Amino acid sequence: MKTFDAVIPYLKKGWKKIAVGLFVLVIVDAVQLIIPKIIQRTIDNFSQNDFTQADILKSSLFIVLLAAIIVVMRFVWRILIIGNSFTLEMGLREKFYKHLMTLSQNFFNFSKIGDLMAHATNDLNAVRMLFGMGFIAGADIILMATASFLFMITINVKLTLMAIIPLPLLSFMIGYFGSRLHRRFGKVQASFSTLSGMIQESISGIRVVKAFAQEDAELKKMQEYSNNFVKENIGMAKLSGFFHPSLAVIISFSTVIVLVFGGQAVIKGDITIGGFIAFFSYLGMLVWPMIAIGWIVDMYQRGSASLKRLNNIWETKPEIINEPETDFNINELQGSISFKNLNYKYPKSSDMIFENVTTSIDTGKTLAICGKTGSGKSTFIDLLCRVYNPPKNSIYIDNHELYTIPIEVLRKNIIMVPQDIFLFSDTVANNIALGNPSASIEEVHKAAKIAAVYDDIMEFKNGFDTVVGERGVTVSGGQKQRIAIARAILTNPKILILDDALSAVDTKTEKQILQNLLEARKNKTNIIIAHRISALNHADHIIALDKGTISEQGTHDELLQLNGLYNELYEKQKIEEKIGDVK
Ligand SMILES: Nc1ncnc2c1ncn2[C@@H]1O[C@H](COP(=O)(O)OP(=O)(O)OP(=O)(O)O)[C@@H](O)[C@H]1O
Ligand SMILES: [Mg+2]
Repeated sequence: MKTFDAVIPYLKKGWKKIAVGLFVLVIVDAVQLIIPKIIQRTIDNFSQNDFTQADILKSSLFIVLLAAIIVVMRFVWRILIIGNSFTLEMGLREKFYKHLMTLSQNFFNFSKIGDLMAHATNDLNAVRMLFGMGFIAGADIILMATASFLFMITINVKLTLMAIIPLPLLSFMIGYFGSRLHRRFGKVQASFSTLSGMIQESISGIRVVKAFAQEDAELKKMQEYSNNFVKENIGMAKLSGFFHPSLAVIISFSTVIVLVFGGQAVIKGDITIGGFIAFFSYLGMLVWPMIAIGWIVDMYQRGSASLKRLNNIWETKPEIINEPETDFNINELQGSISFKNLNYKYPKSSDMIFENVTTSIDTGKTLAICGKTGSGKSTFIDLLCRVYNPPKNSIYIDNHELYTIPIEVLRKNIIMVPQDIFLFSDTVANNIALGNPSASIEEVHKAAKIAAVYDDIMEFKNGFDTVVGERGVTVSGGQKQRIAIARAILTNPKILILDDALSAVDTKTEKQILQNLLEARKNKTNIIIAHRISALNHADHIIALDKGTISEQGTHDELLQLNGLYNELYEKQKIEEKIGDVK
């Protein structure tokens, strides 16, 4: 992908506005170029006897009129081209966000939120500046520089050639500083994303920060990153601070040359006074584009550096996609699942998580998974849901190899309540209806009842309309889990997975929820992961994961008889429960 490929479609879409804007810009420039000519003529006419006060007034009014035209026209091109650059930014932001949504969990595991936020703000800004102000100034520069140069030549060729002697030095300076500015801007951006990422993480983890009295340490860390950001910016400011004035110095050489040699020409009578004054005006018009070149180079460097960073994201391929073998005739799943000799290790890791794991569950049955922490329970279902891609030919649903099932069908038919639950800053009702926004409020209530959270919600100040999450009330860990379970139940999927989703509720409530759930989901497949045996014993089939394999599997009674890991956990938890009862 070439740096500018991504913006081309948006430029094509807005070409009419850009063309009209450029056309208006040409008119503005033409008008600006006429003004010195009028001044020249007026001054030179002073020496003629028939030039009256009225003529001077006429010329002055004409200049005022032209200035008014310039004001209106400038307004027009600003609206058209700058306006269009905002549309471009909007389009790119949408493209960025859309692409981000297609990327896998794996991508997010290895990305810093601060970086992604910097792309969505600073980088998009820089691109907009380049294609708004940068573009218009670029066009303006080329037009004005060429035209004023030509006008200067019409006044005096020799003087023009002398005036431009210092200009090659300009291009040298621009080339030299350009690449430095580019590199420096990269560093500024990187330090900004580190800083914003750190603040973001610190605020998200504020509980831990406070609990461990780490406020000062966090503040110190922030100051350090903030200092670094300032340091990089000062470096940038130093560079531009030297760059722009040095351009002005080079340009002042031109002014001196014109003053000395142009003055002599006037004395000798080679140029009229009007011509000399007009020449100065044109030199001014030639010079400001030269100064502005620095500014545009700067904008170009920032814009293209930002686009490169955005391109990196756009070039990241989504990993979880429909593969060539996907059979789009599959549009419904029943819910029987089988794992055949599943081997798995995470990308970028060398440890095998699973070796030769084989098990199955029929439609409408409940599979339970237990095992020590870190034994791979979450990974097991993440592979089934294709949060991560499993090896081919190792997982089957309804005898369809997993990769033959379209992703959309998989997502619609398998709903998981993950271990780390996330509620949006929205009402409880909307949070529950997330996967089924058209559900009636009665259905939402019913789901909440099955998840045994209805009474809790009714006790909130605004019931189901209570806002939870960042901007609303704080819900307890157990309430959060049950709201998430209600959310999953409402979608009524063919396969429902609870990944340790009952860990924060007491044993009695857990029992209640499981009873409700199995009752409501007769004939549908469930997978329940839990640490507590009490959550598992109703399952039709239980597997215990240990050291990358299924160490035991069977029904609750069968596993107890094995006298192994399962039995050990069961006995331990029975004692714990008894102690709990005594307390
Ligand atoms: N994205 C990942 N990349 C690399 N390794 C991972 C990743 N996620 C988990 N692991 C590793 O895989 C192993 C299994 O993790 P997993 O989360 O599946 O365990 P678990 O049985 O669900 O544990 P818990 O009971 O604590 O939830 C662990 O050793 C873990 O460190
Ligand atoms: Mg887990």
